[in-house]
Amino acid sequence: MRPSSLFSCAALLGAARAFNCSPSAIQSALPGNASVNFAYALPANSTFQVPKSTTGYPDSPVGLPALCAVSVQVKSIGNSTYGFGLFLPENWNGRYLAVGNGGFGGGINYLDMAAGVRYGFATMSTDTGHNSSTFDGAWAFNKPDALANWGYLAMHGSVVNSKAIITAYYGKAISYNYYSGCSTGGRQGLKEAEVFPEDFDGIVAGAPAWWTSHLQPWTTQVALYNLPPTADYHIPAALFPVIGAEVLKQCDPQDGLKDNIISDPYGCNFRPEELLCGANIKNGTSAGCLTSPQISTVYKIYSDWVGENQTLFFPHLAIGSENQWILLSGDTPNPLGPNFVKYFLGFGADWSFYDFNEDIVRLADRVNPGNATVGFDLSAFHKKGSKILSYHGMSDGLIPTGSTPYYYNQVDRQLKPKGVEIDDFFRFFLVPGMEHCSGTPAKVNAPWYFAGGNQAPVLGPTVYSVPGFMDKEHDAILAMMAWVENGTAPEQVVGTKYVNDAQHDKVLRQRPLCMYPKQAKYKGKGDVNKAESWECKGLY
Ligand SMILES: *[C@@H]1O[C@H](CO)[C@@H](O)[C@H](O)[C@H]1NC(C)=O
Ligand SMILES: *[C@@H]1O[C@H](CO)[C@@H](O)[C@H](O)[C@H]1NC(C)=O
Ligand SMILES: *[C@@H]1O[C@H](CO)[C@@H](O)[C@H](O)[C@H]1NC(C)=O
Ligand SMILES: *[C@@H]1O[C@H](CO)[C@@H](O)[C@H](O)[C@H]1NC(C)=O
Ligand SMILES: *[C@@H]1O[C@H](CO)[C@@H](O)[C@H](O)[C@H]1NC(C)=O
Ligand SMILES: *[C@@H]1O[C@H](CO)[C@@H](O)[C@H](O)[C@H]1NC(C)=O
Ligand SMILES: *[C@@H]1O[C@H](CO)[C@@H](O)[C@H](O)[C@H]1NC(C)=O
Ligand SMILES: *[C@@H]1O[C@H](CO)[C@@H](O)[C@H](O)[C@H]1NC(C)=O
Repeated sequence: MRPSSLFSCAALLGAARAFNCSPSAIQSALPGNASVNFAYALPANSTFQVPKSTTGYPDSPVGLPALCAVSVQVKSIGNSTYGFGLFLPENWNGRYLAVGNGGFGGGINYLDMAAGVRYGFATMSTDTGHNSSTFDGAWAFNKPDALANWGYLAMHGSVVNSKAIITAYYGKAISYNYYSGCSTGGRQGLKEAEVFPEDFDGIVAGAPAWWTSHLQPWTTQVALYNLPPTADYHIPAALFPVIGAEVLKQCDPQDGLKDNIISDPYGCNFRPEELLCGANIKNGTSAGCLTSPQISTVYKIYSDWVGENQTLFFPHLAIGSENQWILLSGDTPNPLGPNFVKYFLGFGADWSFYDFNEDIVRLADRVNPGNATVGFDLSAFHKKGSKILSYHGMSDGLIPTGSTPYYYNQVDRQLKPKGVEIDDFFRFFLVPGMEHCSGTPAKVNAPWYFAGGNQAPVLGPTVYSVPGFMDKEHDAILAMMAWVENGTAPEQVVGTKYVNDAQHDKVLRQRPLCMYPKQAKYKGKGDVNKAESWECKGLY
């Protein structure tokens, strides 16, 4: 090695060490309203011990690269505070990555931070200002400040404060700022793009829960289609696989290839009457057939929720989502529905979901608790030159797939008249066969993995990127980096399904996920399990 490069190497190390990993050093980078909870160094291959009583994200990440682990508490509006966690890797790639949360959960998402820091990003997650499990909403009751922290304040404030730490710690400016999250994490990303366009250069927003004021009421409404369990129209969960199998039978061939993956649910004219019970059936559940009232429920589930005057309240669950119908399987709605009414809208713990009505969604629109719902005017984000890559699984049973194309189309309707071509900065990819943020039904085995938000921990505790395919063609974060840093806009992202997700060594299938509204079509020859046998085709 030449003496000069030895010198610059030492200078770099010196710069990193000049600002050490201690509470007092980190504190000196922060304003008076932010205080360090802890800051300490971890050698390579350590476990970060998640602090006790972290309800939302209790799992401790293992096998980490050498890093400085930091936690900070920030004073927010009123008497409220929020916290954030930050991993500062020794081998920094010069870039920043913030990751998101899930449901109503409060807590620092250490597992997604771990996946991010393995690339070399300085990685941040906020606790959104409270401490709770995914489905708990009681923390929000009569607490508008806590709701605003969750809705939009905690992410932005955590971004600003963590960037100040990073710049001081490494002694140089951050080259690029990225975000990746799914579900509530997707909403947080889009909200940042709308309200704080200066925060990020690239945002990867999966299955965004962007329409909080409608999604949460819909969660109650969709359950009520199938309640009470004693009703003649109630479909027991034991029949969901029967419906799923009929959907597959009718709608898989309709997309052009019989492969157990429904690639065009919106192009399928599903006829549930094929499932009708014939004469002399005493018990449809054991016979695997549906009564006429149950068929009516199937129609409701697959129909948009529309209110008075033909107002769209929420898009329907997509055909092909049956394997994840957990919102329909209980004797009561999923708490993410009623808890919104009880605690976010202030009806109180005694409110009964059987009192649900349309006025509640109109009220939710007016109140917009925590300002969580994301608007459509992303022009400031576009003007700054920043990018969004969004995606949504077509077998999502928690957030209807159609809500993301709806958002994308509304943004297009806002910006096209202003001369903005949406694809210049916002690209959206549907993922056939993927459930909520990750995974695919065992019978479907769709290529769902592309290192999106929350995905890496599903494969294994030390996984990051796409094992075997760490490149911009297969990894959504690397695709975003190539777009932001080199101007190479992604036309498609290749999804991967491993034979065994936990081992992630052998590939079962790979297939392109196409830029909406294009769809992946088999070329007619070549191995159907190889991405190159497919092409993304427009509708016309
Ligand atoms: C990392 O730590 C684990 C568990 O402590 C250990 O089994 C493994 O051998 C270590 N790996 C390396 C590369 O040191
Ligand atoms: C988080 O919530 C759990 C469960 O309610 C509680 O035990 C714990 O003390 C809380 N932690 C913090 C930091 O508030
Ligand atoms: C915290 O302090 C900084 C720097 O003085 C200020 O810009 C910011 O508005 C403060 N935040 C709050 C929530 O008061
Ligand atoms: C903040 O806390 C103080 C002391 O507990 C209380 O008097 C005050 O009303 C609180 N303010 C808000 C906005 O909650
Ligand atoms: C109908 O069959 C299902 C599944 O075998 C069973 O769980 C249920 O109890 C039966 N219902 C009646 C009314 O017998
Ligand atoms: C529906 O439209 C009618 C006629 O314009 C209007 O009077 C009524 O208020 C509308 N309903 C709602 C819920 O907006
Ligand atoms: C929500 O946003 C509006 C407009 O930006 C603002 O006036 C209002 O104070 C915000 N509400 C909350 C709860 O933060
Ligand atoms: C940008 O392009 C250069 C040259 O092809 C390549 O070396 C680099 O890795 C690319 N950067 C990103 C973030 O993709």
